[in-house]
Amino acid sequence: MDPNASADLSFLRKLVFGVSQNVLDPAQDYLFESRLTGLLRNYGMTRIGELVLHLRARNDPVLERAVAEAMTINETSFFRDRRPFELLRTEVLPRLIESRRSSRSLRLWSAACSTGQEAYSLAMLILDRAATLVGWNIRIEGTDISSEVIARAQAGMYQRAEIERGLTGCHLIRYFDREGEAWTVNPELRSLCNFRQANLCGPRMPFSRAVDRFDLILLRNVMLYFSQEHRRALLAGIHRLLPPDGVLVLGASEQPADPSLWTPVLSGGACYFKPRQPS
Ligand SMILES: C[S@@+](CC[C@H](N)C(=O)[O-])C[C@H]1O[C@@H](n2cnc3c(N)ncnc32)[C@H](O)[C@@H]1O
Repeated sequence: MDPNASADLSFLRKLVFGVSQNVLDPAQDYLFESRLTGLLRNYGMTRIGELVLHLRARNDPVLERAVAEAMTINETSFFRDRRPFELLRTEVLPRLIESRRSSRSLRLWSAACSTGQEAYSLAMLILDRAATLVGWNIRIEGTDISSEVIARAQAGMYQRAEIERGLTGCHLIRYFDREGEAWTVNPELRSLCNFRQANLCGPRMPFSRAVDRFDLILLRNVMLYFSQEHRRALLAGIHRLLPPDGVLVLGASEQPADPSLWTPVLSGGACYFKPRQPS
């Protein structure tokens, strides 16, 4: 084994933390080898040692970013975990729609949206109720740190294996157009969603203007990659973006870092959180 290998991997772990605030477990160092293969090839390199030598020698933010992006885990699917989406369909969205009757406006955020399936799943739940939402202003924002997955979300094109994970035949026929072996979201579905690259743990929240407000935020299966400190800061920022009747949905195994800020609501085997107001 290369005597510098362990120092190189430790250097890369720190680099990834610095760029994306993802905490990588040394027990999973073997992942560097497989995840960085394409990147090494693109840069005409053959070994991780070469890459580290290059990064140690010069400031190269583009390459640093590419390394951090390559190490993100982008696992996702349409209507992932099913139950939270059932809860959104039967309870959360009907209640939000009822309480926004006068403003006729809804703003939703899929934070860490990966390749877009989560945002498009929300969009399908909304469009399934389109008859009651005529004239409404509805926006679904999708953000992710990886520009590669954002480009895929924007394209909205999915292969058969991705379509087969979570989509019903009805949704497929109604909201997707077939292009050879792939399926692309139709213009109606696409028009509800806006995607952009953004870091949830950067110096500024992706949405930080005083007017920024969301009715529903999905922050699922991403906090597990962050340190406790970053989880706290992120959830405090998210709390500021939600009105008192707003809703936060986390991943099935995730909990708010600061439970005093949130009221959990359990229903139908799923859970969402309402922001608690300071007393
Ligand atoms: C496992 S996927 C979850 C996707 C989707 N939310 C779901 O539950 O199916 C995690 C996503 O978080 C993104 N991510 C990781 N660190 C991030 C950060 N600091 N800011 C924004 N997105 C981040 C990754 O690029 C990846 O696409």
